Amino acid sequence: MIDFNTEKKAEYVQKMFSAIVDKYDLLNTLLSLNRDKYWRKFTAIKSELKPGGRAIDVATGTGELAIELAKLVGANGKVVGVDFVKKMLAKAQEKIKNTKYEKIIEFIAQKAENLPFLDNTFDCATISFALRNVTDVKKTFEEMTRVVKAGGKVISLEFTQPKNFLFRKIYYFYILKVLPIIGGLVSKRKDAYVYLPNSVINFPSKEKLKKIMEDVGLKNIKIYNLTCGVVAIHIGIKP
Ligand SMILES: C[S@@+](CC[C@H](N)C(=O)[O-])C[C@H]1O[C@@H](n2cnc3c(N)ncnc32)[C@H](O)[C@@H]1O
Repeated sequence: MIDFNTEKKAEYVQKMFSAIVDKYDLLNTLLSLNRDKYWRKFTAIKSELKPGGRAIDVATGTGELAIELAKLVGANGKVVGVDFVKKMLAKAQEKIKNTKYEKIIEFIAQKAENLPFLDNTFDCATISFALRNVTDVKKTFEEMTRVVKAGGKVISLEFTQPKNFLFRKIYYFYILKVLPIIGGLVSKRKDAYVYLPNSVINFPSKEKLKKIMEDVGLKNIKIYNLTCGVVAIHIGIKP
């Protein structure tokens, strides 16, 4: 595994996602047995965004969660998707071309740790399957919290370590042994699908993530476990 000191990690992550863009959505569907769409939809519902609302989806990738948020805020709302890999954003833009979402969503190339928006701009900030990839989790939460209005939500959807011992054994076998083979065959970048399970296993536990959210000032943190605890949604409120 790569030694993840900060700059090296950012460089590695950027190169990796640039290389797998074309197969990214397909592999998400295949490897999650189509659960990924449900996870993002559930996350969007938990945002409780209203028509006319404003949201930011950080590390938006190919824009899947941004589109779910756009469905909620509607024609009078606004969703900004931010990512530091331009090829991912190009794919996202292509997806919404000639759809009603083209007027609602704007994609911007920028780092999660440095969001180019004023304080208190959005009703909600989301990040899905990307906290494992950012260079600085705390800084990312700080930025998401900064740009959200008082009373707004900061939401993370992320893989986590299932609690049940037996299920965890089976799940780890799947992500460590099976997933890299399928991911490698389809994307031709096996390293990306070796990186993925290792980043899941080494990611802070749900409790640690909750603590980081509290440390940046978020309150009333709620955690939702989905699909036997394979993924968790953390939701915090900006006071
Ligand atoms: C696994 S993908 C998730 C994409 C999308 N959120 C989803 O649910 O499919 C991770 C994304 O995070 C982006 N990313 C990683 N680190 C980042 C950073 N520091 N700033 C901005 N984007 C970042 C990558 O470019 C990639 O598009």
